[in-house]
Parts: sequence; structure tokens; C-alpha cells
Amino acid sequence: MSLVVLVGLQWGDEGKGKVCHLLSSWADWIVRYQGGNNAGHTVVFDDKKYVLHLIPSGILYPGKKCIIGNGVVVDPVALVEEIDFLRKRKIKITDRLYISLNCHLIFPYHKYMDAFREKLKTKIGTTKRGIGPSYGDKFARVGIRMVDYMEDDTFEKLLSSNLKEKAVFIRKFQSPESLKKQIMKERARVLPRIRNFVADTALMLDSRIKKKRNILFEGAQGAMLDCDFGTYPFVTSSNPVSGGACTGCGVPPVMINTVVGVTKAYTTRVGLGPFPTEIKGAFGESLRKKGDEYGATTGRPRRVGWLDIVQLRMAIRINGATKVALTKIDVLDELKEIKICTGYKYGSGLLRDFPYSRKILQEVIPVYEVLPGWCSGTRGITSFGKLPANARRFVRRIEELCGVKMILISMGRAKKETIYIEKKFLPND
Ligand code: IMP
Repeated sequence: MSLVVLVGLQWGDEGKGKVCHLLSSWADWIVRYQGGNNAGHTVVFDDKKYVLHLIPSGILYPGKKCIIGNGVVVDPVALVEEIDFLRKRKIKITDRLYISLNCHLIFPYHKYMDAFREKLKTKIGTTKRGIGPSYGDKFARVGIRMVDYMEDDTFEKLLSSNLKEKAVFIRKFQSPESLKKQIMKERARVLPRIRNFVADTALMLDSRIKKKRNILFEGAQGAMLDCDFGTYPFVTSSNPVSGGACTGCGVPPVMINTVVGVTKAYTTRVGLGPFPTEIKGAFGESLRKKGDEYGATTGRPRRVGWLDIVQLRMAIRINGATKVALTKIDVLDELKEIKICTGYKYGSGLLRDFPYSRKILQEVIPVYEVLPGWCSGTRGITSFGKLPANARRFVRRIEELCGVKMILISMGRAKKETIYIEKKFLPND
């Protein structure tokens, strides 16, 4: 039995899509456990680029089976759009995609609430996909699950009470009566399209675990966007950390064998919130253009910074990541000097552990170690030994500072643009 969780170790957009794609060839089942269509996994498969938001990218591999677990929030309209997107590209979905009965759903009023809050001074720069309000309803126990959506009477009753409760928000956009009609019409259109995919996925996973299948849990976003451990309140409303895989799918923690973390060779984030190692000005802009034009979901420009070991060590610890994949090292190819943040100066002290205080995080001054750059192209190199000596030194220094081993280095979206350091890092591989 092998269960592997793949997580982002920064603020999302670490390049998990590609690593997930590499790991998917090992897995029999690929499972999403949190988030919703706020995620955007970019994958190159057979030289074609796909951006998937909700359905695990493992669906692109013929024969692999995919699950959207109970911890995911599903916008039924977005789900049908993604199903259509895949079908148009001749990707078979029937008997390969399963959606938990317990998923909470996203309705237009969640998006209205998200948009409304984003107009306030207290905005956090969300994707405006209704993610936070849907999870809010889940934990306030007024949410509507897939199982409720499938029952006419239950759904109508729950929808009416939600529309009543949220009328103040809804009226800013449309009348609750017209929204009810719209949602009922949408349901009539989308429910027949998704009904056959819905299942008790926790039960399915249990039987696959007993059959000793290889299962990959694909985290969305990243540790620093985790609602409990990230830079709160500038986080997402779920638990992207590896522990989320257990509650988000109904799988007991003892079953998990390995946690693989993904980090870029530098740091990025979209949206607002503290970012101690951010590089501002023309240099930051040129680095962003090289590696990270825009976020896959919102198209917003990414903020760029130096690799932050204080942050990374915390993410590795919280996730229990023992194997780490390093992505986008090529973005640093031309730099004469490369910085790594090894501590935060705060007042007269030096912090080595990531602080949770909003005030402290705004005030810390990163302390950098400066490494010599390699000033040559790394793209196309396929073995670690062939990397320039300074690039190898950079990788080894990160390992040393974080106490982990790198399993692979990636320098492009394509599968072949990968250096495997530890080839057999997956159980039963
Ligand atoms: P929400 O998830 O839409 O509520 O947005 C909350 C925060 O998480 C915002 O800063 C978003 O930009 C960020 N976020 C959500 N999903 C992703 C992602 O997949 N990659 C990177 N950032 C994300």
C-alpha cells in the first residue's frame, strides 16, 4: 500500500502541476483533497498545454482514476465546463472521475460575498471564485453538499434558507428571487451531467488501499496559504498542508507513506499579504517576466522574491515533507549573485522560525546569504553532475539549511526538462 501526498511549500504556484504529472505515472489513483477552482495546475502533456482547476491532472493519463475528495469545494457550473474542456480534447472521463457526495458546493451568492468583501478595506486579494464563503458556510453548518444538491426537496429547502440568510449581500447584485430561478435552471442543466460521477469516495479509497493501489494526493495552493499555518488572514480557506489529505478524503494519517514537497528556487505569491523577501522595482519585474508572468487562475502578475529558508523550513516541518522537488532553477541562470534568506532580523534579535504575528511579519528584515551565480544556461541538462558547479552548490546549500534531500530539479514545463537526483523516491517504485 502506498499513499503519497504532494504539497506546495510556498504560497502556491510552485510548479506542482508538472511534479504531479511526473508522479501520476506511478499512481493508480490521483486525488484532490482541498481547495476548489481557485487552483490552476498547468501541465504539458504530449506537447499540449492544459490548465486544470478542479479535476486532478492525472485525468490526462489514459487509464488513471481521479477523485475529487470531500475537502474540495465544487462550483458545479465550473466543473461541467472542465468536463466539457476535457471531452472536447477526447479525454475519456466516464469510469475515471469520481466526486465525493460530501463536497460542499459553490453557488453565485458565494461569489457575490467574495466580491463584496474584496471591495472592502479589509480585502485579502482572493480569486473571487467564492471559495472562502463556501467553506464559511460549511463550518457554519449551513452549506449545501453534493448529496443535498442531488435531492430535489432537500436542495430547494436549503437553497431557500441560504438565499434568505444572505439576501443583504445578494441584493447588491440581483434579487434573491431571480437568483433562485437562475440556480434552479443551472441545476437542471448541470446535475444530469455530473450525477454519474458522484460517489462515496472515502469508501472507494478504503477498498483501493486494501487492494494495495498506489494513491497520489494532489495538494492545491501551498503551505503559506494554509488557513491554520499560512500568513493569516492572507490565506485560502482550506488546509493545503499534508494533514488536509486525511480530513479532505477520509483517509487515516497512519496510511500516508511519503510527503513530497515542491518549492521554486526563489519565491512568488499572488494576492496581498506579507512577503518578507519580496524584490521590488525593475530587478524584481525582470525576474518575474523570466519565470512567472501571471497566475494560472486569475492572470494576476506574481510578486517575486528570494528563496526564504525561514519560511521553507516551517513548511517542510508542518507538512512532514521528506522529499523535495526544486523547480524553475533556470530563472536564476543569468544572475551573478543569488540570495537565500536564512533569518529575519527583528529589533535587536534574529528570528530563525517563521513568526505568526502580522505585526512582526511586516517589520522583519530578511538576512541574506549571498551565493555566486552560475551565469550559464541550465535548460536541457538532464543529470545533476552536469549542472554548473555553482548551481550544484546552491542546491546542496538549500538541502543543508532545510535538512532535506532534493529528489528532482525541474527547469521547464515539459517532462524531459527534469533532472532526477533520487530516481526511486516513491514507495514500491
Ligand atoms: P481564495 O483561495 O480565492 O480565497 O484566495 C485567497 C488567497 O489565496 C489569495 O491570495 C489567492 O491569490 C491565493 N490563492 C488561491 N489559490 C491559489 C493558487 O492556486 N495559487 C496561488 N495562490 C492562490
